[in-house]
Amino acid sequence: MQMFVVEGEKRLGGEIKVQGAKNSALPLIAAALLAKGETVLHNCPRLSDVFAACRILGCLGCDCTVLGNTVTVRADEPCGCCVPDELMREMRSSIVFLGAVLGRTGECYLSFPGGCELGPRPIDMHLSALRKMGADISERYGMLRCSSPGGLRGADIQLPFPSVGATENTMLAAVLAEGTTVIKNAAREPEIADLAGFLNKCGARIEGAGSDTVVIRGVKTLTGCEYSVMPDRIAAATLMSAAAVTGGELSLIGARASDLGAVIPVFEEMGCSVYTYSDRIYVCRSRPLCSVKMIRTMPFPGFPTDAQAPVMAALTKAAGTGVIVENIFENRFRHVDELVRMGADIKTEGKVAVINGVSRLYGARTVAADLRGGAALVTAALAAEGVSEIEGIRFIDRGYESLEKQLASVGADIKRVTK
Ligand code: EPZ
Repeated sequence: MQMFVVEGEKRLGGEIKVQGAKNSALPLIAAALLAKGETVLHNCPRLSDVFAACRILGCLGCDCTVLGNTVTVRADEPCGCCVPDELMREMRSSIVFLGAVLGRTGECYLSFPGGCELGPRPIDMHLSALRKMGADISERYGMLRCSSPGGLRGADIQLPFPSVGATENTMLAAVLAEGTTVIKNAAREPEIADLAGFLNKCGARIEGAGSDTVVIRGVKTLTGCEYSVMPDRIAAATLMSAAAVTGGELSLIGARASDLGAVIPVFEEMGCSVYTYSDRIYVCRSRPLCSVKMIRTMPFPGFPTDAQAPVMAALTKAAGTGVIVENIFENRFRHVDELVRMGADIKTEGKVAVINGVSRLYGARTVAADLRGGAALVTAALAAEGVSEIEGIRFIDRGYESLEKQLASVGADIKRVTK
């Protein structure tokens, strides 16, 4: 079993290149299935989820290779339309392959992605949109059997909630559909614009990505291209939390201020100075950590739910009392009990967490239960007195490329240990 061993209370300082965005690389890899010829995706993070996505493409008859941070896909004649159950289980976001497989082959068989560590992860909005586009979808015994014998056709889609995945799946199904698709109440996360940027470079006709209305005019074929994945805004927010809680300073190379509009003010209220440039963001803890009165997670451009856990970890040592309201997922406070084991003073009631800052955290043996919760445990361990051992780092490896190496490069005493 692997774990991180952290000797805390080391002030971080230096610069880190922010990894490519996991939540953009995954839909981009799925989108590559739609394009004939070769697609080359640069700045892909080396993550277990990315490797799983490449294995799914392989099962669908594509040639997919990973070399460093570059994923190369050849999808001339995909011959498969069935996503293996074990791969669907391994990566909940594999549902994003549904729109791409359906759009390219006209049929798709996959198991229900099911819940995950954050609670039930329904896909009703995905299925409703695809049905409106003419897909025939039956759900039985945990399997989804989807077909669009006459091909998909454009439709007007009104999402009840700006779901990131449902927006992406609809875009992927619409680019090769007959006619025009309009997505109303679309997700506005930057990853949506990244996906549209890639698809348009392949020959798609997408407008409005990044706004709440996305218009996709179907085309006959797409041709593979070379594209670079956007920087990971959540990885950047995680590193900002590490700098804040250790009283350090970091230059985050590649981080984009436009992706972090709701995050930067939280760090400034917390006691950090944040300077943004065209190619980086510089953050330093310039004053004693103080509590942030209220953080509410919201769809973009609101405060991102994925940053909630690492930011909470930084706030455990902030003087005063702060409140975090988790509005997006039902079960996203699983890191709280583990932070309390380290001496944090946090009370939760439903979707509300109240954090009373403490002067000290203490190293402890903790267990990560999900990706961002694991990042929170690492963040807290960096500022805790003594040694922490963090288990469950397979969750962390799903979303952070060698997090221990990134942090050690700027002064953290953190090692990956196999026991
Ligand atoms: C994406 O998940 C991200 N994952 C998540 O990041 C992120 O937390 C989330 O968007 C919100 O920003 C990837 O991009 C791979 P949603 P997704 O559909 O698409 C409900 C991480 O840590 N919903 O916007 O699954 C859903 O239950 C991960 O990197 C329905 O009810 O998120 C949730 O409560 C975690 N029916 C809310 O909407 C649906 O059909 C937001 O989900 C779809 C969603």
